[in-house]
Amino acid sequence: MLELETKTVVEERQGEAYAPFANDPNKYSKKFYIESYGCSMNFNDSEIVASILQEEGFGATTFLEEANLILLNTCSIREKAEQTVRKRLNIFRSYKKERPSLLIGVLGCMAERLKAKLLEEEQLVDMVIGPDAYRSLPGLIAEAEGGQKAVNVLLSREETYSDIAPVRLDTNGVSSFISIMRGCNNMCTFCVVPFTRGRERSRDPQSILREAQDLFDRGYREVTLLGQNVDSYYHTTSGSEDVTTFANLLEMVAQVSPLLRIRFSTSHPKDITDDVLHTMAKYDNICKYIHLPVQSGSTRILQLMNRTYTREWYIKKVDRIREIIPGCAISSDVISGFCTETEEDHQETLSVMAYSKYELSYMYAYSERPGTLAQRRYADDVPEEVKKRRLTEIIDLQRELSAQLFEQEVGKTFEVLIEADSRRSADDWSGRNTHGKVIVFPKENYNLKKGDYVQVKVHKATSGTLIGTIVPGNQH
Ligand code: SAM
Ligand code: SF4
Ligand code: F3S
Repeated sequence: MLELETKTVVEERQGEAYAPFANDPNKYSKKFYIESYGCSMNFNDSEIVASILQEEGFGATTFLEEANLILLNTCSIREKAEQTVRKRLNIFRSYKKERPSLLIGVLGCMAERLKAKLLEEEQLVDMVIGPDAYRSLPGLIAEAEGGQKAVNVLLSREETYSDIAPVRLDTNGVSSFISIMRGCNNMCTFCVVPFTRGRERSRDPQSILREAQDLFDRGYREVTLLGQNVDSYYHTTSGSEDVTTFANLLEMVAQVSPLLRIRFSTSHPKDITDDVLHTMAKYDNICKYIHLPVQSGSTRILQLMNRTYTREWYIKKVDRIREIIPGCAISSDVISGFCTETEEDHQETLSVMAYSKYELSYMYAYSERPGTLAQRRYADDVPEEVKKRRLTEIIDLQRELSAQLFEQEVGKTFEVLIEADSRRSADDWSGRNTHGKVIVFPKENYNLKKGDYVQVKVHKATSGTLIGTIVPGNQH
């Protein structure tokens, strides 16, 4: 969900807020401030919201003090994510006291989950807007400016915002997200997403291609195709026999330019097909990296989670990936302490991680979510301290796996897409290889810039980063 970090991620990604972008300060009479939480799809939605607001004469600001409108794009995936948002709302209370005309809106999954109840619970909130209702923002702002509380949490079976060009927020100018679908039709019993995001729908492929081409023309060199389950992407045009599958879409986007790298996330193990794997193998510019969340290594727990695959089936999928795409990097999401999980189940999770040799994992303790199938059917019966201890063991194992995989890269040469100055020094570049690993190397006297490709030989592995030097020739 996911700016896929290349180091071992040891904690939840919730509570990530980015500083909103600033645009021409003199062009807009009103200012909005937006903060996003949760998955990359939510961050991409904020870019759609920014586009809608710009049309309405709102410019972005990074300063809360000068905002007329504060928006929080929220996440409900775990309880902690919602607590973070409530803490932020508490901070906004003081701004509202000083300036009663300031409007505060809650967007995204928490808005959808709690609906108008959020207005009762959080009196300072003026607007509650669900993920499929962003087109109604201008009307809702007008209502709120007139002193009413405004709510729209209608979910849609069609909305994909395909005609809205997202305003790129917080970007390095090289990599960007493109949402290719919305919602989720799976019913993993632990998960709130089907309730907050609604039914799955796939976006028209032509609008996706236009967006990819436009990004490429503006100098971007990497796009990540986003969806909760990208492998079930399926688009038909009404009145025509034309069907576009995810494999077809990948191929179409890969053909925009060999210089445009393609990534995608997330793949549900049950839906990723050989067609997708062969398409990945065929195009050098489709990154050899698959995020394939296992959740648990125990078939019994997987059944309770309604993941619809077994441990053996998942392992075969990992084998198949590495057979068709040798060396392909695989990453995962893992949950510790799901309902009824025993020590044996937990050991099976550890062993599937070791077998799969994950590049990185996003690892979580199970958090019961109201309204989900698990909450209605099963007792959340693994004690908190057991969940935490198992999570620590999962994190420790992932650290070891990542360290081994990083160590193996020493001595190899990779094509690296330059993304930015390294965080440590403006004399070094930072970029990633096809497997998503971060590689840092001295700029030397080469006349290179962000968005260029360069061959880099790795000399050293540190935790989460490879260190190398440029191999002369082959820069483009
Ligand atoms: N659609 C993706 C998939 O199926 O893998 C990811 C969905 S979710 C936004 C991201 C991750 O959050 C999940 O893969 C799962 O590991 C975790 N997650 C979801 N619900 C959770 C819960 N109730 N408690 C703990 N972790 C949860
Ligand atoms: Fe949630 Fe499962 Fe859908 Fe992923 S596939 S969003 S975990 S219901
Ligand atoms: Fe994403 Fe969180 Fe919603 S992970 S889909 S923002 S519940």
